[in-house]
Amino acid sequence: MYRRLLGWSAIITGGSRGIGYAIAKALAREGANLVLVARDLERLREAEKTIEEKYGVQIETVSCDVRDYCCAETAVSRCMSAFGKVDILVNNAGTAVRKPFYTMTKSEIDEILDVNLKGLMYFTLETLRVMMRQRRGIIVNISSGAGKAGIPELSVYSASKAGVNVFTEALARELKGFGIKVYAVCPGGTDTDLHRKLFPEHRPEWLLRPEEVADLVLRLILEGGVEGHCYDIFRLV
Ligand SMILES: NC(=O)c1ccc[n+]([C@@H]2O[C@H](COP(=O)([O-])OP(=O)(O)OC[C@H]3O[C@@H](n4cnc5c(N)ncnc54)[C@H](OP(=O)(O)O)[C@@H]3O)[C@@H](O)[C@H]2O)c1
Repeated sequence: MYRRLLGWSAIITGGSRGIGYAIAKALAREGANLVLVARDLERLREAEKTIEEKYGVQIETVSCDVRDYCCAETAVSRCMSAFGKVDILVNNAGTAVRKPFYTMTKSEIDEILDVNLKGLMYFTLETLRVMMRQRRGIIVNISSGAGKAGIPELSVYSASKAGVNVFTEALARELKGFGIKVYAVCPGGTDTDLHRKLFPEHRPEWLLRPEEVADLVLRLILEGGVEGHCYDIFRLV
């Protein structure tokens, strides 16, 4: 089979589980080498072994918290030393707490905004330092349908994802003419650990499979799309 991303390299945050892991498999299937970032080293190593064995690509793992700026620095420098360039960044790591806003704590608010918004900006900034030199690159931000319509009991999460959407739009406009494309993807409920934790009452058949979100990300990378736009994907039940 002709592999359309042979020789490409990608950094995927939150690439050890859920949607990020599905994206990692989709890109590896097309031949891309990967840097996977997450906190839990065991899960990262499992993902690395499975993907390398199945797709014969090179996987680097970086165990760190996207809230620390040095996490982005380490991931980008690992990608450069292993592969010599960064073709793709998928900002996927994310977190949420489901509760009424008036019951939330400061640390819960900080964690959601720091991971979903600031962590994404840190990775984008570090990666852009390389992509601007390359005058080439693709950034895909995994946002959420919650960023388009505020969801009760997910108010901070919704605000973080609305921030991701507007950031994506602004950045895409800023980078026009630099050879760097920026997109967002706004999934609805997807069957992952995060969704099961937030909505234990939801049945799997109501939800997207992570592979469906990954297919959309792959399509954007291969075929392009409207820069700065957030692409919706959801299950109609
Ligand atoms: N599932 C849904 O219904 C849904 C819907 C719309 C959008 N999304 C978005 O899709 C993205 C992925 O969500 P998911 O459902 O796949 O979640 P998940 O199953 O909980 O996986 C999250 C991934 O991110 C990593 N991660 C979380 N916090 C991190 C941190 N501080 N630093 C580094 N890595 C971190 C996790 O690994 P470690 O825990 O080991 O760090 C894991 O690899 C998120 O941005 C989420 O908002 C999800």
